[in-house]
Amino acid sequence: MFECSAPGKLILFGEHAVVFGEPALATAINLRTSVTGSYSSEPMINGRPLREEKDNYVKAAMNQVWKGKPLDLTIRSSLPSASGMGSSAAVTVATLGFLTSLDGTFSKELIAKTGFEVEYEVQGRASPIDTTTSTEGRAVFLTKEKDKGFLWQIEKDDKSWLLHARDIPRMKIVVGNTGIKARTGPLVENVRRLVSGDKLARQTIKEIGRITLEGLKALREDDLERVGKLMTSNHKLLGTLGVGHKLLDKYVEVSLPLSYGAKLTGAGGGGSMIALTDRPEEVAERIAELGGKSFVVETEDRGVIVDEG
Ligand code: MEV
Repeated sequence: MFECSAPGKLILFGEHAVVFGEPALATAINLRTSVTGSYSSEPMINGRPLREEKDNYVKAAMNQVWKGKPLDLTIRSSLPSASGMGSSAAVTVATLGFLTSLDGTFSKELIAKTGFEVEYEVQGRASPIDTTTSTEGRAVFLTKEKDKGFLWQIEKDDKSWLLHARDIPRMKIVVGNTGIKARTGPLVENVRRLVSGDKLARQTIKEIGRITLEGLKALREDDLERVGKLMTSNHKLLGTLGVGHKLLDKYVEVSLPLSYGAKLTGAGGGGSMIALTDRPEEVAERIAELGGKSFVVETEDRGVIVDEG
């Protein structure tokens, strides 16, 4: 049987603000989740029955697209879960890729759109940046205006997002994972509550949007000094929205003397931070000395792929 795999992602700029219509930029990374499977008497994952709670992304993905006989899916991932590295998007997209390859409906646009519906259903609130990045690979820029590299438009309720592919410089990025698993849904909901009642928080969301646009420009110009400064500013602003964590702040602090910049990535509240640096091994070591799990990852061109094996 063939296998389908999809990459994790890192948000470089704009997490949380993107849920409120601001732009965001993410890149695929060279850690992946793969899904293969065979027919079975009941829905299973890795040889055991599908669990309601733990397998919620896979279950929701199956409900969205699969009309065939029950399957036993074999899922392997090199992405730590609930870490801000897009493990939920990768398992959702790889599962959808496998199922739609099996029934002959595979298309990136369908997978990205259905993947977003799955995340929305499981998390209660989401933007399509994670699932589109895992589907398309490279870097993905999400904004409200149509621009070059346009991929597709995704709509939900009163929101509409335009997703674009972007080529950014090939980079090594250090990821510092706190090991604290923070769920995206409640974090997003807390920010929503804050933003609905607080003018300063609304301004912060706008400021993050401005930083994202500037960050994209700096990346296009290969101005890593500027990219790094903007990342660090983005980190501070996310802290004021209540999605920071003292360990993330510490990892950022020890990374900065050796880096262009550093920030939390993804939903925050634990999870991971990233550092942009020419000295990735040393930065990874500093984070590890503080008890964090560190990874040196690379930007990745490939999105969802089918491997006929
Ligand atoms: C999570 O990786 C990114 C958030 O902006 C939520 C989302 O966009 O769905 C926090």
